[in-house]
Amino acid sequence: MKPTAFADELPKGIQRSRSLPDPALGALWDSIVLDERIKKQLLSQAVLNFTMRPKVDRSVIPLHGVILLVGPPGTGKTSLARGLAHRTAQAFPRSGFRLLEVEPHTLTSSAMGKTQRAVSELFSQSIAEAAALGPTVVLLDEVETLAADRSKMSLEANPVDIHRATDAVLVQLDLLAERFSNLLFLATSNFPEAVDSAFTSRCDLVLQVPLPDREACRRILSDCLTGLAKTYPAIGRLVDGSTIARAAEECVGLDGRAIRKTVANALAVDPETAMDPSRLSLEAIVFSARAAKTSRVGGLSRK
Ligand SMILES: Nc1ncnc2c1ncn2[C@@H]1O[C@H](COP(=O)(O)OP(=O)(O)O)[C@@H](O)[C@H]1O
Ligand SMILES: [Mg+2]
Repeated sequence: MKPTAFADELPKGIQRSRSLPDPALGALWDSIVLDERIKKQLLSQAVLNFTMRPKVDRSVIPLHGVILLVGPPGTGKTSLARGLAHRTAQAFPRSGFRLLEVEPHTLTSSAMGKTQRAVSELFSQSIAEAAALGPTVVLLDEVETLAADRSKMSLEANPVDIHRATDAVLVQLDLLAERFSNLLFLATSNFPEAVDSAFTSRCDLVLQVPLPDREACRRILSDCLTGLAKTYPAIGRLVDGSTIARAAEECVGLDGRAIRKTVANALAVDPETAMDPSRLSLEAIVFSARAAKTSRVGGLSRK
């Protein structure tokens, strides 16, 4: 039987639906440089959701089927969540796993009462329908939009509607946890302080994704430069030990996305390098990394 809601068009609030495993997501998981222990912990928690949870009563071990990744923007949370969905499905071959990606911004509407209804429908219909068909992972990216901290809302600035949307998310999470043990939510947030504490308390694991340390910076740069060297072999000279260590040193304090962008900026350091990327130099990377850090500090101090 084909799920009607997913046959042709995606229901409102669902940005993407795909079957798992998906090798492209495996590559994403591998591309995120992170302490292996953290990756293992994440994967184990997700796997446990599909092994133990269907078999053990919730009064014994109260799993809700929600994992929350928090950390600064650009640290790889969304990529990790997608990759984790793939790796989890891989642990259960031929089980028909699906990944649904929720787009919270399309649910929040300025019209009174609409957000709450959209949220309720998404969970009670679209997600429930998918979970009824087989093991399902749902990505709730930037979840603070959906489960905003009610205690921090002023009723003037934040319409009652958003307040109700948070209530609806919590109610629906409880209902779904009760009904489906083959359902796992992977939530991310750049602003954990903006997420409602009743949501956080439902999470089976809240994991901090840190900024990369010096060694992680080196590995991200190395991955980036090695990738470039496939097209521009001369860039391979920069992957040498002391050169890359020097560049990595300058990148400490930047997030993973900013490090990759630093390399892109270094390729655009002058028109000659932009015309011929083989000319990429260590100096240009150091210069761009410093510039990225300076603009970041400037950006923060303006807040
Ligand atoms: N730890 C990391 N290692 C390697 N690349 C990273 C890392 N963190 C971020 N990136 C890069 O930044 C991009 C954006 O990451 P993303 O998952 O969107 O971060 P977030 O959701 O935390 O903002 C990734 O595709 C990846 O290229
Ligand atoms: Mg993200």
